[in-house]
Amino acid sequence: TSIWKIALGTASAMALASSASASELRDYALEMFAALPSTIPALKDNPVTPQKIDLGKALFFDPRMSASGVFSCNSCHNLATGGDDNMPTSIGHGWQKGPRNSPTVLNAVFNEAQFWDGRAADLAEQAKGPVQAGVEMANTPANVVATLNSMPQYQEWFKASFPGEDDPVTFDNFAKAIEAYEATLITPAPFDAFLNGDDNALTDEQKEGLALFMDTGCASCHNGVNIGGTGYFPFGLIEKPGADVLPPDDRGRFAVTETADDSYVFRAAPLRNIDQTAPYFHSGKVWDLKVAVAIMGTSQLGTELNDDEVDKIVAFLGSLTGEMPQVTYPVLPTETLDTPRPTG
Ligand code: HEM
Ligand code: HEM
Repeated sequence: TSIWKIALGTASAMALASSASASELRDYALEMFAALPSTIPALKDNPVTPQKIDLGKALFFDPRMSASGVFSCNSCHNLATGGDDNMPTSIGHGWQKGPRNSPTVLNAVFNEAQFWDGRAADLAEQAKGPVQAGVEMANTPANVVATLNSMPQYQEWFKASFPGEDDPVTFDNFAKAIEAYEATLITPAPFDAFLNGDDNALTDEQKEGLALFMDTGCASCHNGVNIGGTGYFPFGLIEKPGADVLPPDDRGRFAVTETADDSYVFRAAPLRNIDQTAPYFHSGKVWDLKVAVAIMGTSQLGTELNDDEVDKIVAFLGSLTGEMPQVTYPVLPTETLDTPRPTG
């Protein structure tokens, strides 16, 4: 069924895991996955500098970027709790409930497309969305720029981050600085150490879970650096989950492409730090990772995974939880009498 099985012929990764040939298991794994790079990745049209990272960090934590003055990026992508908000769906402007679960910003730079439905091309495009979304920060680009310009410290930071630009305080540069900061939010994990050659980085149970993850076909959709975040697939490819997990009114990529084939198509979720980011799925309706894994088995593969298999896969997923970035809470520029007042 999976490309993986074809590549293996009659052998299976499971047999490799139990025969303790860690290096063969690694070789197979390297055909589907890649370790996190050890340096900050380069961004398209956006050179990453220390000044820009610091500015982006300030913006990420600044609630004055929202109309109400209440919500910052960190409200829904809390770096103290895995880069998400631990709620089924986010609460935003005016205590409104958004339609989808907040994904983690950790390692998001490695996703080939952003959002559950891939509607933004990169993090810089992405960052402009929540600021303007009525249910998130409910602000306007003009008001963000006016807010930034009202604080001399921000003017200086933009100047230092975008040298040679006549008018560096722009909404585009706001997004670029945030993108640069997000590119630093990467979390090397035991699985990376294993891919990089450390046989003992994974426990035996995790190795068996990795083998199962490949053998049963999970890796045909969840692969690459982020173990997902690369392609789009119908949620319910084999069997649609119930309406509690897959609410009928959110048709995913259909809203982006308006093609019938894209009905209920979502991005195969990136799985790094997945044990830190319950509840699961775009609906945020499943709290137990074991239940989420079992649902994937039936909905995507037509396979009833038994408890032992689920436990092993969940153990493997635990090896994707990395070292969290150490974040010092930033001191933000002080507002002035020119700073637009909070509304709503
Ligand atoms: C999605 C960053 C503010 C809720 C995302 C993603 C990123 C991101 C990178 C995509 C992650 C992925 O696809 O894996 C930011 C930044 C913000 C911000 C930089 C500040 C400028 C907020 C706020 C909320 C929020 C304030 C909640 C009120 C969400 C939700 C999604 C999301 C629900 C998923 C949307 C969907 O897929 O349709 N955000 N975010 N974000 N964010 Fe934010
Ligand atoms: C989501 C694991 C197989 C496509 C997820 C999630 C987990 C997971 C834990 C939730 C992520 C989150 O909430 O952030 C697995 C495991 C698999 C498997 C363990 C094997 C047993 C597959 C396959 C496909 C696939 C084969 C493609 C045919 C997706 C998609 C989502 C997802 C599209 C997002 C669903 C949504 O809209 O909420 N997967 N997966 N998965 N997976 Fe899988």
